[in-house]
Amino acid sequence: MSKVAWIGLGHMGVPMSKNMVEAGHTVFGIDIAEPAREAARKNGVTVVSTVAEAVRDVDAVFTMLQNGSIVTDVVTGPDGAFAHMPAGAVVIDCSTIGIETARTLAAQAKERGLGFVDAPVSGGVEGAADGSLTLMLGGDIEHVAIAEPLLKSVGEYIVHVGPSGDGQAMKVVNNAMMAVGMAAACEVSVLARRLKLDPQVYFDIVTRSSGDSWVFRNWFPLPGVVETSPSSHGYEPGFMIDLIHKDLRLANATAAEFGVQLQTAAAAQQLFAAASAQGLGEKDCTGLVLGLDETVPSA
Ligand SMILES: NC(=O)c1ccc[n+]([C@@H]2O[C@H](COP(=O)([O-])OP(=O)(O)OC[C@H]3O[C@@H](n4cnc5c(N)ncnc54)[C@H](O)[C@@H]3O)[C@@H](O)[C@H]2O)c1
Repeated sequence: MSKVAWIGLGHMGVPMSKNMVEAGHTVFGIDIAEPAREAARKNGVTVVSTVAEAVRDVDAVFTMLQNGSIVTDVVTGPDGAFAHMPAGAVVIDCSTIGIETARTLAAQAKERGLGFVDAPVSGGVEGAADGSLTLMLGGDIEHVAIAEPLLKSVGEYIVHVGPSGDGQAMKVVNNAMMAVGMAAACEVSVLARRLKLDPQVYFDIVTRSSGDSWVFRNWFPLPGVVETSPSSHGYEPGFMIDLIHKDLRLANATAAEFGVQLQTAAAAQQLFAAASAQGLGEKDCTGLVLGLDETVPSA
């Protein structure tokens, strides 16, 4: 069994680090928020107060943080992970940070004799809780070989896509489609309400018809139909509007760089940006529907 550090104990980090503990690994956790630390402590994570303490004696350092700039600070800062990890240890970043940030961090790791694997995930908090996440890995084979056995504790479908950044590339394209699907599910659900369609009948028919999708089925945006959807729990995340918006920014910037038009993703980015401006940024992404139709019950 291994010793690992887990930096970022949020909606995904808490259940993922719990699965690492349950698999028998020793996990040193760190987060800037006390409720996050408390949740992890209850799961058997040894919570420490500095990155240096967390990473000093580990085989791997997991990061599960909101975005690339936070991951960069935590990993490369003067008191960051790279400065204190043992030689040969690997940072396994499970956050969604974009291709270039992952490549830059991998290059900086190499200069220090360390490893960096981009390992973004899909499956939501449900997949994090039951250990069924999909993981898309980018990195050198020797670092991926260290990451893969550890990642079996948190996910089921683990694929080495290619060199550094390729895991993030795969995540960008997946989440562009997921986010467009979520935006469509929310907009069309507003129309279904206006048409006075019964939400349960609407759900039952679409999930047996050609309009079905993973987001519609798992993250149905109207309350009281899918028990496990955040819409049935006051739109608490789950996956925050501000994070899906960040993923759309990454997708649209990447598309622009490669001369590809993603008009549906651009429209979806505007919808989520508007929801964020309405103060819904920390609601679950299903909460886009609240910004589109103020008559949808939010509790
Ligand atoms: N929530 C999902 O369903 C989901 C699914 C797939 C991928 N992701 C991606 O995973 C990442 C994490 O998502 P999440 O939903 O868990 O976010 P979150 O905001 O719930 O968790 C992030 C945690 O990082 C902590 N943090 C921030 N700065 C820190 C620092 N400097 N040091 C230590 N801790 C710090 C925060 O306090 C928070 O607890 C994001 O990149 C997101 O896009 C999320």
